[in-house]
Amino acid sequence: MKTANVERKASSPALPGHSGLGGTKQAFKPGTMIYPLPAVMVSCGDAPENYNIITIAWTGTLCSDPPMCYISVRPERHSHALIQRTGEFVINLTTEALARQTDWCGVRSGRDYNKFREMGLHPEPAQIVKAPLIAESPLNIECRVFDIKHLGSHDMFMAEVVAVNAEESLIDKSTGQFQLNHASPLAYSHGKYYGLGEKLGGFGFSVKKKRKGNK
Ligand SMILES: Cc1cc2nc3c(=O)[nH]c(=O)nc-3n(C[C@H](O)[C@H](O)[C@H](O)COP(=O)(O)O)c2cc1C
Repeated sequence: MKTANVERKASSPALPGHSGLGGTKQAFKPGTMIYPLPAVMVSCGDAPENYNIITIAWTGTLCSDPPMCYISVRPERHSHALIQRTGEFVINLTTEALARQTDWCGVRSGRDYNKFREMGLHPEPAQIVKAPLIAESPLNIECRVFDIKHLGSHDMFMAEVVAVNAEESLIDKSTGQFQLNHASPLAYSHGKYYGLGEKLGGFGFSVKKKRKGNK
C-alpha cells in the first residue's frame, strides 16, 4: 500500500507547555503503532518434555475485575498449537537482565530448541496451571484461555488470570506494593529494546494539591 503524503498544519505550531511537538503531521500507513510495550516471555506446555517459551509483544490487559488479559499469536508458531491444546499459558515479565533471553526466545522456535535449556532459564511449577513459570522473571501471571479470536495474521487468546507469582524481594514490606521498577523492566518500541527511564510522577499527580510548605 502507498503511503499518502498528505500534510496538515496544526492550528498552533508550538503549544504552550508542550515538548515542542504539535507542528506538522504526515499521514502514515495504518499499522501497529502502539509503542512502547512490554516484551514478555510466555511459557507454555503441560509436561517438561514439551515446555516452551515464546516472546510476545502483542499482549495487554482486557479487564480488571475479573482480571483478564490477552496474547496474540500467529497460527504458525510452535507455541500456538501448545496453547490451543492446553488452554493455558504463563506471562513472565522481563527485565533488562533478561533482554538477551527475551530476544532469543523470539527468534528461535521450540520446534528446534529447548529454550529453557539453551537460555539457562529454570522452569518452576505454577500454582494452578500446568504451564511452567520462568524462575528468573520477577512476576509470573498464570492464565487460562476462555476464548480465541481469529483476527487475521494473529489469533487472540483471551484469558482469565488465575494466579500471580511475585518475586518476594520486590514487595515493599510496609505497603505490600509490588515494585516492578526495582527490577529494571524491559520495554519494546519499534523493533528495539529499552529500559524504563526516570519516574515522572504518580497516578493522579497532575491534580494533586501541594502540601503546605512544599514548593
Ligand atoms: C520482541 C518480539 C516480540 C514478538 N511478539 C510476537 C507476538 O506478539 N506474537 C507472535 O505471534 N510472535 C511474536 N514474536 C515472534 C515469536 O516470538 C517467534 O516467532 C518465536 O520464534 C516463536 O517461537 P515458537 O515457534 O517456539 O512458538 C515476537 C518476537 C520478538 C523478538
